[in-house]
Amino acid sequence: MKRVKILGTGVSLPSKVLTNTDLERMVDTSNAWITERTGIEERRIAAPEVSTSDLCADAVRQACKNAEIDPGDLDVVIVGTSTADTLFPSTACWVQRKLGIQGMAAFDVSAGCTGFLYGLELATSLLASRTAQRVAVVGGEVMSKVINWNDRRTCVLFGDGAGAAIVAASDDGSGVLASNWGADGNLAPILYQPAGGTQMPATHETVDANAHTVHMEGNTVFKHAVLAMSSAAVKAMKDAEVTADDVKLLVPHQANIRIMEAARERTGVSKDKLYSVLHKYGNMSAATIPVALHEARQEGRIEDGDIIVMTAFGTGFTWGASVLRW
Ligand code: ACO
Repeated sequence: MKRVKILGTGVSLPSKVLTNTDLERMVDTSNAWITERTGIEERRIAAPEVSTSDLCADAVRQACKNAEIDPGDLDVVIVGTSTADTLFPSTACWVQRKLGIQGMAAFDVSAGCTGFLYGLELATSLLASRTAQRVAVVGGEVMSKVINWNDRRTCVLFGDGAGAAIVAASDDGSGVLASNWGADGNLAPILYQPAGGTQMPATHETVDANAHTVHMEGNTVFKHAVLAMSSAAVKAMKDAEVTADDVKLLVPHQANIRIMEAARERTGVSKDKLYSVLHKYGNMSAATIPVALHEARQEGRIEDGDIIVMTAFGTGFTWGASVLRW
């Protein structure tokens, strides 16, 4: 079976920067607490008129340019997001509209922060079955619009952004070597947005109760995240027959530097190979991995032939990992 490789990447990051010092003026927190407990120093915040599809469309446009293809030549657009533009239609359809393209299939993947890796796994199947030849896999979020800005336990963690990868079949030995994914819906209530769906439709009361914002049991998420990310990565590395020494870069979901470090340690990959953009952008949910990949590539940290391990966890609870030879 042919492998699936990344032809090009692109990102979109809002220009407005919100620093920890800014947050000190908004809630009872401190730069020291946020930096020590999370590793986050600042994050980007989208302008009020910007929605998730705006960021995703920009990222796809850049990724297509980078891959030297026209957006109209894509066969599928997959968007991983937890902050969809609308409950329906999908954000991917809004992305098509903003790119001025149509005809190809477009849909969202709801897997929280694992959305990009779920999308990559789906793209792999679509390419292997020859259903598609060029797929845009996007992770994009405007988390700032689903956050309770009075809740210091959550508002310091998140940021806005999008990243995209154009993927296609590969016959030169590069591409995804192995991957796995999974979920445990029993853990759904530890991290969710209670209102706005059919479980709790929007009412004046749900708005007054801030039920349309992120609700999270931080400590529980922390423990599951470390286990899920490390075991998914170890399994994918084993299936790909690569050792920790073979790995050039570990690109985990960027939620908290302590989670990333603890997961890295369990994979056996050395500290210097952990790639982080968390300090600059915070937790952008599904966008963190494609944004990190793009920046690592731009900085020359990823060269052709390098082995890259990506691993993520997210609301659901979902998890996934992929080992890639660039
Ligand atoms: N500033 C100051 N103090 C704070 C803040 C803050 N922003 N937030 C919490 N605290 C306080 C708490 O109230 C608590 O005070 P208390 O001891 O007086 O009760 C104290 O700090 C310690 O709180 P903990 O929750 O135990 O702190 P912890 O070290 O666990 O860090 C954190 C909290 C950062 C949320 C951590 O648990 C974490 O990162 N969890 C995972 C979060 C995550 O990754 N979420 C996933 C995101 S979304 C997704 O993936 C789809």
